[in-house]
Amino acid sequence: MKYIAALFLLFISAFPAHGAESLTFSIGTDKRVMTAPQLLADPKTRDISIADPSYKKTMHYRALPLSALLAGMKLPPDSVIEAVANDGFVAQLPTDLLLNDKTGAAQAFLAIEPPDTPWPALPGKKASAGPFYIVWLNASASGIRSEQWPFMIAALRSADSPAKRWKELAVDPALPAAALIRAGQALFVTQCMACHKLNGAGSSAAGPDLNLPASPTEYFKPDALKKYIRNPASLRHWDGMQMPGFDKDALSDHEIDLIISYMEHMSTTRKTAK
Ligand code: HEC
Repeated sequence: MKYIAALFLLFISAFPAHGAESLTFSIGTDKRVMTAPQLLADPKTRDISIADPSYKKTMHYRALPLSALLAGMKLPPDSVIEAVANDGFVAQLPTDLLLNDKTGAAQAFLAIEPPDTPWPALPGKKASAGPFYIVWLNASASGIRSEQWPFMIAALRSADSPAKRWKELAVDPALPAAALIRAGQALFVTQCMACHKLNGAGSSAAGPDLNLPASPTEYFKPDALKKYIRNPASLRHWDGMQMPGFDKDALSDHEIDLIISYMEHMSTTRKTAK
């Protein structure tokens, strides 16, 4: 009986929220599940038009400001909101960015796919960005990055900030505060950890760990690694490949170098035996 129950659980968890159109919140001690119609009925929901980097065109959404959605939920100090997608992607979104409603700053919204008028499929994918998708107005004002637009969201949960939660990501404390490797670390957390772990740390396992057992900086030629991050399909491609390319808007040449310098640093300070 237990066995059947376990099988059943496995079965339902293998087919998460898609189609169920509900969003699970666990923010601090606040836990709730809300459906798309409930969220659409919120009077703070409004129409917005977005220059959408995922659809690569202007899109129109019914959307709820994140600041309104999270109002009243108690956010633990030094925390981030993890947006958990139903494909294994987990974005770490700094709460100060999400809650910022100052004029001039980027504003985060939860776009809600209306069950009766679904959005189109994303370019190169079979599914839309729904049921829930975090989009930004005025994104460039706060330097919002390409991986901070998580789509196909099933859950929003609060968690300690990555630096506090995972000492495995830390650089050598002897590095000066302004060291470029530290800038590379911040970029790595935002742009890469939505899919990759490093030293076993991270919330997603959509892609391989990038330091265990070995770092790509040890087995890719430097130029090839840079080329791969810019456009993985330029080195090898197959139907099931998942890693997105990062064009120059997503990461400049200099920023890719910073990420690689962080990865290199982490490989040379790796404590775990290969
Ligand atoms: C949306 C998810 C996603 C993001 C974001 C992402 N990756 Fe990946 N990455 C993958 C997946 C999945 C693979 C495995 C190959 C595949 O399926 O495309 C991969 C493979 C790789 C590989 C090849 C590893 C090997 O041994 O073959 C490298 C290197 C890599 N990623 C680096 C990065 C870096 C650096 C970043 C951030 C700038 C990044 N990835 C961001 C999903 C992602």
